[in-house]
This record gives sequence, structure tokens and C-alpha cells, in this order.
Amino acid sequence: MSSMVHVSQHPLVQHKLALLRSQVTEPKKFRELVREIAQLLFYEATQDLALAPLTVETPLAPCQGYEVADRIGIIPILRAGLGMAEAIITILPTAHVWHLGLYRDHETLQPVTYYNKLPKEPDIDLSLVVDPMLATGGSAVAAVDILKRWGARRIKFLGLIAAPEGVELLSRTHPDVAIHLAAVDSHLNELGYIVPGLGDAGDRQFGTG
Ligand code: PRP
Ligand code: URA
Repeated sequence: MSSMVHVSQHPLVQHKLALLRSQVTEPKKFRELVREIAQLLFYEATQDLALAPLTVETPLAPCQGYEVADRIGIIPILRAGLGMAEAIITILPTAHVWHLGLYRDHETLQPVTYYNKLPKEPDIDLSLVVDPMLATGGSAVAAVDILKRWGARRIKFLGLIAAPEGVELLSRTHPDVAIHLAAVDSHLNELGYIVPGLGDAGDRQFGTG
């Protein structure tokens, strides 16, 4: 696997991932787990953020501190990326969120774009595409294509579960994009679902399907 692919080995991520996969986990708990794992992966994926020094006044004295200097854009792929984006802006409220609507055509498994809320200019330093599932990789590749055409330079992908096929397609098409995951599973089934996976991430978050 490429050195740009990072699969979290953190015990908390692995613990929560098993709960997320379970078919008896209901939507409320599922959403909570998506948020928690997204925050842990975001923490791991942002170790290289630029900092700028600043001075804060404690009740006792001035103190040297830092603030995040990189301007960050979170790009959730609708629908399933919404929970991850919400979790990330909770811990980094200065991040901007730009929604990208993509769905997989059920017959062809090809991504179809139906919504794009990117502003005119890419006034950010780091774009984080978030989507729980990297299956064939078609949606992630389409999202990165859109971001690159828009002018984004530094791009990372944050997902929960991937199939080897999706990791291969995304890293071959966009070798400069770091991929952060909680797991890479066995394979895709004939319907394009990740096995063992967790089922349909959108349906399980929103109680549909
Ligand atoms: C799911 C998932 C990804 C996509 C992954 O979305 O959230 O966006 O499939 O599949 P791929 O790697 O083969 O492109 P889906 O199309 O089910 O849309 P939804 O979130 O609106 O349910
Ligand atoms: N999308 C999902 O939600 N689950 C999969 O297993 C594959 C694509």
C-alpha cells in the first residue's frame, strides 16, 4: 500500500469501529460513533498543520501559545459525509464546510454530481474530503477531480471503511492525496458494497432504506 495511505491503529478507533459495524447499532448510536471516529481520524490526519505563534494573557502572566495557521475546508460528500463534517467543525470551528452532492448510480456504480457549494476562489490551504465509505473509489475520485479543477492544491481524504479497490483507484488517480481510514476491508460484493463493511452508511445514519 502507498505511503500516502494511513490506517489508524488506535485502540479507541478500533473499539468504536466494531460497534459501528454491528447490525444492532441503531441510528442514534451510529451517528454518535461516526462523529467520534471522525474526530479521532481528524486528529491523526492533522499532525502536520501549520501553527502561528501568539501571546495569551493567563490570569498570572503573558504566555507564548499557538494558533492553527492553515485555513481548512471540509468537503463532505452528501449524504453520508455530513456526520463526519459536523464532528470536525465541533473541534475546529474555524474550518469552512463546502458540500458536494454525489450519489452512486445503482446500475453503473458511477458517481453522479447533483450539488456543488464550492465558492469561486479556493481561499484555503488544506481541503479535507470526508465520506465514511470508499468503495469503488468513484465518488472520492470525482470529488478530488472537482477540487483540483477548482484550484485546491493540498487535499486529504478521510474515510471510515475502504475496500482495497477504492484505495487502489484513489491512490493511483491522485497519488498526492493522503488517505486516512479506520479500516481496509476484504472486498466489494457484486452490488458494490464493502464486505464486511457496515452496510449503507447514509441509510444507517439517517434511518432510511
Ligand atoms: C455512498 C458513500 C460514498 C459512495 C462510495 O454514497 O457515502 O459517497 O457511496 O461509493 P464509491 O466509492 O463506489 O463511489 P451513496 O452513493 O450511497 O449516496 P448517499 O450517501 O446519498 O446514500
Ligand atoms: N456505500 C455505502 O454506504 N456502503 C458501502 O458498502 C459501499 C458504498
